[in-house]
Amino acid sequence: MENVRNTWKHVLAWMIITLSFSQASAATEDVDFFAEASALEFLERYNEEAQKIVNNGVHAAWNYKTNLTDHNANLSSEASLRSSAFAAKTYNESLFLRDAKLTKATKRAMKMVAGAVLIGDDIKKLTNITSRMTKIYGSGKVCSDKENNQTCLSLDPELQQLMKNSKDYEKLKWAWEEWRTAVGRKLKPLYLEYVELLNKQAKLNNYTDYGHQLRMRYESETFEEEMLSLYDELKPLYELLHSYVRRKFYNQYGPKIIKLNGPLPACILGDMWGRFWDPLFEFLQPYSSSDYNLDAKMKQQGYNVTQMFHMGEEFFTSMGLKKMPASFYDLSMLEKPSDGREVVCHPTAWDFYDGKDFRIKMCTTVTFENLQTIHHELGHIQYFMQYAHQPYQYRDGANDGFHEAIGELMSMSMTTPQHLEKVGLMKDVQYTKEDEINFLLKMSLSTVSTLPFHLVNDLWRWRAFRGEYKLEDWNDEYWKLKEQYLGVYAPVERTADDLDPPTIFHIANDYDMIRYFTRTVLQFQFLEVLCEEAGHFGPLHTCDIYGSTEAGEKLASVLSLGSSLPWQDALEKMTGGRKMSTKPLLKYFEPLKEFLMNEVCLNGDTVGWGENIQNDYCKDSVILADGPNIINNKADVSSTTGASSKPLSLYALLLALIFNVSIRINNNYRSFF
Ligand SMILES: *[C@@H]1O[C@H](CO)[C@@H](O)[C@H](O)[C@H]1NC(C)=O
Ligand SMILES: *[C@@H]1O[C@H](CO)[C@@H](O)[C@H](O)[C@H]1NC(C)=O
Ligand SMILES: *[C@@H]1O[C@H](CO)[C@@H](O)[C@H](O)[C@H]1NC(C)=O
Ligand SMILES: *[C@@H]1O[C@H](CO)[C@@H](O)[C@H](O)[C@H]1NC(C)=O
Ligand SMILES: *[C@@H]1O[C@H](CO)[C@@H](O)[C@H](O)[C@H]1NC(C)=O
Ligand SMILES: *[C@@H]1O[C@H](CO)[C@@H](O)[C@H](O)[C@H]1NC(C)=O
Ligand SMILES: *[C@@H]1O[C@H](CO)[C@@H](O)[C@H](O)[C@H]1NC(C)=O
Ligand SMILES: *[C@@H]1O[C@H](CO)[C@@H](O)[C@H](O)[C@H]1NC(C)=O
Ligand SMILES: [Zn+2]
Repeated sequence: MENVRNTWKHVLAWMIITLSFSQASAATEDVDFFAEASALEFLERYNEEAQKIVNNGVHAAWNYKTNLTDHNANLSSEASLRSSAFAAKTYNESLFLRDAKLTKATKRAMKMVAGAVLIGDDIKKLTNITSRMTKIYGSGKVCSDKENNQTCLSLDPELQQLMKNSKDYEKLKWAWEEWRTAVGRKLKPLYLEYVELLNKQAKLNNYTDYGHQLRMRYESETFEEEMLSLYDELKPLYELLHSYVRRKFYNQYGPKIIKLNGPLPACILGDMWGRFWDPLFEFLQPYSSSDYNLDAKMKQQGYNVTQMFHMGEEFFTSMGLKKMPASFYDLSMLEKPSDGREVVCHPTAWDFYDGKDFRIKMCTTVTFENLQTIHHELGHIQYFMQYAHQPYQYRDGANDGFHEAIGELMSMSMTTPQHLEKVGLMKDVQYTKEDEINFLLKMSLSTVSTLPFHLVNDLWRWRAFRGEYKLEDWNDEYWKLKEQYLGVYAPVERTADDLDPPTIFHIANDYDMIRYFTRTVLQFQFLEVLCEEAGHFGPLHTCDIYGSTEAGEKLASVLSLGSSLPWQDALEKMTGGRKMSTKPLLKYFEPLKEFLMNEVCLNGDTVGWGENIQNDYCKDSVILADGPNIINNKADVSSTTGASSKPLSLYALLLALIFNVSIRINNNYRSFF
């Protein structure tokens, strides 16, 4: 039956290709029609099998990561070995097409499904190692001294809460160091072996090393340079933010701990890694005028976890996007289990590749950050659902940055004061300049602040993987990059036993991090076009795409492509351009940049650190006399009054109203600007 059907398909495919090629690209592409038909048939067969095997593997991985027992590790490793065996078989069977003249699209698809994989002892070793790294990371604990009543703290929630809330420098330093001792030192020997094995596998596929393979997920040989040059454009904004934050820390911790012209200790930045500075918002906010005490309000209003997920889901459906299947709520792990099970708490979204089973694993607590994370993870799930009809090899983001960006769009909108007022988490928002700056600072702490962070984690990996560093220097080289790009340093001396990079989830669990760099750039590009689609009027940062089915439709049209087209094509469909651009991000934060410049120069601060210090940064800058900063500079955080608090121009509102009406009359929701 299989064969008959396949032969029939084979002929049909051949006819279709012949027809389409005689019409279109036959002149430009030299294609062997017979090989092309074989390849299509191969892909079809691959698809059916792959879905089943991958579904099986995902189930086993889910069971393990939500219940870290040896038994589940064994089952998960067994499933993973079956997947690898299938990949090896697929690769062998694809070899007869290796030099065939196929269409570009088919060649690309073949490359996506048929890569060489490790076999024999190598694959067993790799599977064993990755499984053990997951366990070490997921069950890592920091314990207080044994003599007294020993207490052990998990990363989630205890240690992360400490990193978020404490301003006790010694305590922060202690937790920072102990986590790295407990996890990094155990991971080190495994991580070294892991790199060796993955480099070996990459070479089988003619990549120079595993980093090269990861970069080629973006289908560009010059990806590394492209990322560095994007960062050059973003760096001035980061450095300003760094300088502003440094002054705040200086006021908090004093000159012994914070040098006004130096880098910052890595343990004070809001989480275990200094990745997201968002938890520091209340400490860093310039004006106390806007009431961002959202955690407290959520608790007051009796928010619970299920309700938070429903709220997130409703954001998507308001835009005409897809609803979650009922099984989502039954099968997901939305809270940390209280039955004593060890789990990997790091939030992740799961596609089971059967077109209906999608889940989230997250140790949710009732905080606003978690509400944002929910929107983020639901963005992944939405993407999964939108491309579920695609063949297996295309059920992926246009690139990884796309996948990470989607939920951020919703999260950004949801965080605007406009939206928070709608859902009752803020009230009496005045839309003053102060509110605007507060909001933009808040947004910058989960975007701008992360740019060099994410870049460096992969810069280090790319360089380590391709052998640029001596093995014994790996950790030192990591801290050199951290200091150079982020302006942070390790608060305690590192030793030959330490390996700090894998003490963050993504590095221990084999995820690249450049995806978060590209997504931060992309999310603002997407926001700009979706807001235009939604008929938004006014500055980009005031846009809330909630309820815009026009924006939803545009988004869905790109999400549903999956990875069936090169990402540049998908980007063009979305934005009209084929390149990642920092312009929308920089435009979004323009008012913040102005504020930060003023603030830094008013304080007589420097920008940069170490060798890159810019002592004369303020020499030529014009300090705005009518900016809110001057008025509030002396009073700093406590100022609530001042002439600048007048509501954002009534005139602008009136204009918006008129335009909104005329746009609606024309039945055309696009903005004219
Ligand atoms: C966790 O896995 C073990 C098998 O190792 C199993 O016996 C147990 O029921 C699982 N716990 C839950 C809550 O699923
Ligand atoms: C799983 O357990 C079985 C039985 O103990 C053992 O033979 C097998 O090697 C284990 N598999 C892995 C991948 O560790
Ligand atoms: C693939 O081919 C190689 C070389 O002929 C062979 O060693 C290997 O066992 C084959 N693998 C599978 C999964 O068929
Ligand atoms: C990894 O291998 C070791 C030694 O062969 C074995 O004891 C352990 O059970 C394996 N672990 C996993 C998760 O496969
Ligand atoms: C040790 O800690 C536990 C849990 O915090 C507490 O219940 C117990 O009373 C403590 N014991 C002593 C001797 O302090
Ligand atoms: C890598 O290159 C070699 C030599 O050109 C070739 O024989 C081999 O098939 C290539 N492997 C892959 C996976 O493309
Ligand atoms: C969560 O909140 C919703 C809405 O307020 C409510 O309907 C639901 O019963 C709550 N669930 C739990 C488990 O408290
Ligand atoms: C513009 O129209 C939308 C959709 O009807 C509405 O939600 C929004 O409040 C309007 N804006 C203004 C400024 O009137
Ligand atoms: Zn994500």
